[in-house]
Amino acid sequence: MKTITSVLSGIVSEAFEKCGYDKKLGNVIVSDRLDLCQFQCNGAFQGAKLYRKAPIIIAKEVAQILAGNPVFAKVEAVNPAFINLTLTDEYLAAFCGQLANDENLGIPQVEEDTTVVIDYGGPNVAKPLHIGHLRSAVIGEALKRLARSSGMKVIGDVHLGDWGMPMGLVIAELMERNPDWKCFSDDFDPAVDTAPTLDVNELNEIYPFASGKSKQDEAFKEKAHTITAQLQARKPGYYALWKEIIRASVEDLKKSYSKLSVDFDYWYGESDADNYIPKLLKILEDKGLMYESEGAMIVDVADESDKAPMPPVLIKKTDGSVLYDTTDLATIIQREEDFKPTSIWYVVDKRQALHFEQCFRCSRKASLVNEATTLEHLGFGTMNGSDGKPYKTRDGGVMQLSMLLDTAYEAALERINRDNFDSEEEACKTAQKLAVACIKFGDLINHRSKDYIFDLDKFLSAEGKTGAYLLYMVTRICSVLRKGGISDEGEIVIDRLYTDSERELMLSIALTGEAFEHALAERAPNYICENAYQLAVAFSKFYHDNHIVSEEDEQKKTAWINLCRLVKKLITKHLDVLAIEPVERM
Ligand code: ARG
Repeated sequence: MKTITSVLSGIVSEAFEKCGYDKKLGNVIVSDRLDLCQFQCNGAFQGAKLYRKAPIIIAKEVAQILAGNPVFAKVEAVNPAFINLTLTDEYLAAFCGQLANDENLGIPQVEEDTTVVIDYGGPNVAKPLHIGHLRSAVIGEALKRLARSSGMKVIGDVHLGDWGMPMGLVIAELMERNPDWKCFSDDFDPAVDTAPTLDVNELNEIYPFASGKSKQDEAFKEKAHTITAQLQARKPGYYALWKEIIRASVEDLKKSYSKLSVDFDYWYGESDADNYIPKLLKILEDKGLMYESEGAMIVDVADESDKAPMPPVLIKKTDGSVLYDTTDLATIIQREEDFKPTSIWYVVDKRQALHFEQCFRCSRKASLVNEATTLEHLGFGTMNGSDGKPYKTRDGGVMQLSMLLDTAYEAALERINRDNFDSEEEACKTAQKLAVACIKFGDLINHRSKDYIFDLDKFLSAEGKTGAYLLYMVTRICSVLRKGGISDEGEIVIDRLYTDSERELMLSIALTGEAFEHALAERAPNYICENAYQLAVAFSKFYHDNHIVSEEDEQKKTAWINLCRLVKKLITKHLDVLAIEPVERM
């Protein structure tokens, strides 16, 4: 179904046309003075310039036509030229009733076939997830669900970092520790030999160790380099060991992501781009874009209008090994072949902006995708500690995700009321959900491009724009329905309203479509968070002002219960799009 502002824009556009003006002037927006009116149209200002007329005259002419429309309870042309609009209660209620029974709950659907590949998560093999990877997973999952709920076909790909120097470092260190492993000997035969089974905890310890060592030990670093190049050339022993590293690491990563309700359609990695590299090189060569410079192969992507330096894309190093740019470009070819996407969204730290700009320019020059296909780097800011610097552990180390989740879980356990639960197990499960909800909402409420401060106390607070507040509101509604012995089944009929707080609540409900539209246009889930919060606040007021369960007028009571059911359905939908699980009690 259409959003309320687009329905109203249609009506107001027609009125402009009737008065002899361009109908484009009839765009309606939500009022910025809700005390005066619910919606407004500012088209008369532009009309004044186009038709050389006093703006208020135009506003008055249009208002006069609109006044006859049964949709509006009040239409006013006010100085200097605003057209202020307020809906009748009947119309507002009917709109909410329609939304309640819309299969998409009022979320506008894209009109054309759209396929989006979302590249998010981006963990690196053999490194445990740390909080730097949290944002990509949390924002990417929400964007995936947002695009899906708007009718797009969406493919989520984790784009595992599994092919670069870190792999060489891990293998080099494993070799130092276990020189007698068959996979390190030249007569390793993949037909009969296998690599030993690895333990992920050991792997997670090895990478930082090897990385540190390579900074002090030049010979070790050199060895890791050679191993990386040999692995990329698929030397059998290294390749078998590498496969085992991936297996152990991916198994562990999947566990961590599932705790966050994050999942991927594809677990492709940088290594999968390998098959497409010969094709990439050929295209770049055929188009005369790639040339040799100091032994390396590069592509120029600078433009005359560039204000900042734009270095060339490094495709191949002197030793033949490929780089981050190369795998990203080759992956574009793979995605184009497999999915023919309308867009590719990269949910990656905004500090990688230059890398993506270089890749996108190179991709355009080489026509790796259709001209109409958009390549979008949806950069995000940093999660900081209270000192404004990237969040660290107490001793200054990198905060691992599991540690963060454990801390949040302990704090959540203290906040829930254990008397509300039949068993300890149920209480623990709820605390787990609450902890994850608070961390995710605390992240998603900020526009993705902004940095934010990680403040667990604030995130877990039952007041304000927090996951805890929203989960609490859902439990409130569940409890109203439980206390009233009311079933949450059957059609939700909403066709009239009785009180002021009900009207405010319905206005919030009616604006659901706008929030989703805005979030999709900006690729920014924070508008969904904001709308969910506004709904919760309006519900809270409605709940305080009206005694739902004890209401004696049956008609009123039924109407209110239906409204409760709709709000529950809506907030649950918002939370689902944010990949946050609701709870029944807290
Ligand atoms: N693994 C990379 C990192 O940790 C992120 C990958 C992002 N995706 C991409 N297509 N480059 O920085």
